Amino acid sequence: MTPGLVVAVTGSGQGIGLAVARKFAAQGARVVVSDIDAARCQHAADEIGALGVQADVTDAAQCRQLVERTVAEHGRLDVMVCNAGIMQLKPLLELEGADWDRMLGVNVKGCFLSLQAAARQMLQQVPLAQGRPRGKIITMASIAGRPGAGPIAAVIPHYRASKAAVLSLTQSAAIACAPHLTVNAICPGLVESEMWRGMDRDWGALQGLGEGQIWQQRIAGIPLGRPQRPEDVADVAGFLAAPESDYMTGQAINVDGGLMMS
Ligand code: NAI
Repeated sequence: MTPGLVVAVTGSGQGIGLAVARKFAAQGARVVVSDIDAARCQHAADEIGALGVQADVTDAAQCRQLVERTVAEHGRLDVMVCNAGIMQLKPLLELEGADWDRMLGVNVKGCFLSLQAAARQMLQQVPLAQGRPRGKIITMASIAGRPGAGPIAAVIPHYRASKAAVLSLTQSAAIACAPHLTVNAICPGLVESEMWRGMDRDWGALQGLGEGQIWQQRIAGIPLGRPQRPEDVADVAGFLAAPESDYMTGQAINVDGGLMMS
């Protein structure tokens, strides 16, 4: 990775976003941690030695401020990781309009607003080196946004729709920002994080199963034979930020231990 790269990560107070922020910081990037949760954001920023900017990605002004504060501190923005997202487990027939709005508000509109704020800044910048993009955007989709997600599809319809929309948005943004920026998505599988701990609890309760049982069932089906760590996602984010992926745009990479193909 290019040392000194300026990287902002939304929703990086914990989980995948925090692992991504740690990975970039360890490689010498100047990282900006951002989260809607102020305490979580500050804690992560202190740990990494990064600038922390509390921002709700559903608010356009806060997304703009995230970018402005990044540029005020570091002079530019090279990589934006649009990672913030929420999950809710609720069967299709019980789902209410408000559930739908909240899910798509954070996962789709939030991704769009943070991506757009970053793209507007990046398009004004000169590339770090001749022939390189002016910036790189990485969205956090999910294998749940791909066709054919199995039984889980029945209990997370709005989450699945939101992640399919993120994949579509990634392609639109890649075309809109070419040839100056690259925009690619990562589709994680079953990642050990607070998000999945909540899924395990709620889905287990729905089926009368105890804590950890759903998780054990689900990870038993992973061809690579172990649960996915947030760091597995961070490694691929590192690749998408690096010069080695400069010729890729509008792509979505499954990082799921082979789960989707099994
Ligand atoms: P997590 O729940 O552990 O962390 C998400 C972070 O986003 C939290 O710190 C939360 O405060 C923040 N956040 C929530 N709403 C926000 C908002 N409006 N503005 C700014 N920050 C906000 O989740 P996890 O597992 O780290 O997931 C990160 C991303 O990866 C999400 O987009 C998720 O959908 C995606 N993903 C996760 C998978 C998993 O198995 N955990 C699988 C596939 C995708």
